[in-house]
Amino acid sequence: MYSKELVRRQAADIAAAVPETLTQFRCSVCRGVFGSSAELQSHYAVEHPGAVPPAIIRLKLNGCLCEALIEPYWTLQRALQFRFGLTGAKHMCNRGACGSCTVIMDGRAVLACMTLAIECEGKEIQTVEGIAADTKWRPLVESYCRWDAMQCGYCTPGFLVSAKALLDKNPNPTEDECREALSGNICICGTYPRHATAILEAALKIAKGA
Ligand code: FES
Ligand code: FES
Repeated sequence: MYSKELVRRQAADIAAAVPETLTQFRCSVCRGVFGSSAELQSHYAVEHPGAVPPAIIRLKLNGCLCEALIEPYWTLQRALQFRFGLTGAKHMCNRGACGSCTVIMDGRAVLACMTLAIECEGKEIQTVEGIAADTKWRPLVESYCRWDAMQCGYCTPGFLVSAKALLDKNPNPTEDECREALSGNICICGTYPRHATAILEAALKIAKGA
């Protein structure tokens, strides 16, 4: 049965399951596994001198310090999905056109498909999983559910992250400000009218500490 607390706890478990420390360093070419970054670098120098070795990034992800081994050409969306196990930032257009991959980086909504993971070293990143796990933002998640601001739901995490970024900066937005903040998010199911309603309702509840 649907339980709001269960949903929040599931999100918290997913956010907390992010691997914090690297214990294995895998070669992307021959799949060999090494015990340290230095060993992996030496392996590349000897065995694959023409290849670019994977790189380590360290992030503060949904409040947890963590690190991962990534390919230097990977986007942040790909790193979130395949290294940190966070699937909320969706892989949709993969060209900065739809907003489905939106995350908050150092307080700003950014497109994870247009951001190189390697450029995120030391950044603070919040994904929809971290927002859903935070009781402060429960009214936003609940309002989205109550107003049914989704059909297939694929785009919804991006909308929700953009809405949260708006409320961080402007806790009392107008309907037009909601629409403007979500203008980079595209929904092929066409649920646009309900998003502003959900955000305005959530803003009132959050202001009341509900
Ligand atoms: S998947 Fe990133 S903007 Fe569409
Ligand atoms: S609800 Fe289906 S793409 Fe937005």
